[in-house]
Amino acid sequence: MKEKIKSIEQEINDFEIKDLAILEKFRIEFLGSKNKLKNLFGELKTVPNEEKKEVGQLLNGLRTLAEEKFNNLKDSLENNNQEASSIDTSRPGEISEIGARHPLMQVRSEIIEIFSRIGYTVSEGPEIEDDWHNFTALNFPPEHPARDMQDTFFVESDKGEMALRTHTSSVQVRVMENQKPPIRTISPGRVYRNEAISARAHCFFHQVEGLYIDKNVSFADLKQTLLYFAKEMFGENTQIRLRPSYFPFTEPSAEVDVSCTICNSKGCNVCKYSGWLEILGCGMVDPAVLESCGIDSKEYSGFAFGMGIERITQLKYKVNDLRLYSENDVRFLKQFTGNI
Ligand code: PHE
Repeated sequence: MKEKIKSIEQEINDFEIKDLAILEKFRIEFLGSKNKLKNLFGELKTVPNEEKKEVGQLLNGLRTLAEEKFNNLKDSLENNNQEASSIDTSRPGEISEIGARHPLMQVRSEIIEIFSRIGYTVSEGPEIEDDWHNFTALNFPPEHPARDMQDTFFVESDKGEMALRTHTSSVQVRVMENQKPPIRTISPGRVYRNEAISARAHCFFHQVEGLYIDKNVSFADLKQTLLYFAKEMFGENTQIRLRPSYFPFTEPSAEVDVSCTICNSKGCNVCKYSGWLEILGCGMVDPAVLESCGIDSKEYSGFAFGMGIERITQLKYKVNDLRLYSENDVRFLKQFTGNI
């Protein structure tokens, strides 16, 4: 008898129930009107009196086991069924929007790519900069009036007064201090100037500055590099022109215009009917700057240039208000979906 009970207990435990139909089979077998336990209960009278109590308890335990297993599985299977039926498979799916890289980041990558094809590496540096790297090493001595060209934000820090860098020329100083020529690098990054925000000016913007230092680097090398850049960026027919200019850290210095990509130099309101658009500043690195950074100016010479990514993006995508770049208006940003 006890053995029969054991084997039915085993059967109950091993009975695998995956759905409601199998659960019903289980119920008929162990709890229905002709269930297996009933036979055993019937046999109870054949058990010797002294064992009746013990066997009776075992049989009751067996019934509880079957009942509990049935109730537990019934609950969980019915819940599952309900969840499954609450999913409406006929509803249309949710469309996930494809994001776009910010136009400034797209143009930044493009500029980096163009220069990396002719051997330029990428260098980065801190946005909170000391006076030496942002100004003094670049030939802006203290009190030099050229400091006013770049309205600077100053911040207090535990290292004393620091500046939010006004250009990424500061990164080039760091590169010159730490690397031996030949140096061929560009430094992309965010820069800050204390200007009132309008369609044409912002208190922060993005630059890519370039630096090339080696023996016998000449102004012709600079010109050819910039012509290559302009053609790659704006198209094969693009021309450049250089106008004399002034920067404390370059001598001679120039400002560079490209032929107007919008009207093909015929004259339009973007180029103010001149046929030319200004895109960057450049020049031969002043020997005093090379010396400040520990490079022998008798042995080496070099050129530098710097451009605003916003300006290049404006010309490429005809964006006429600088504020659009930082307002995060999805209607503006969406237009750049699908670009590289
Ligand atoms: N640093 C200059 C600026 O921010 C740009 C520049 C870089 C000019 C290198 C000449 C040479 O305006």
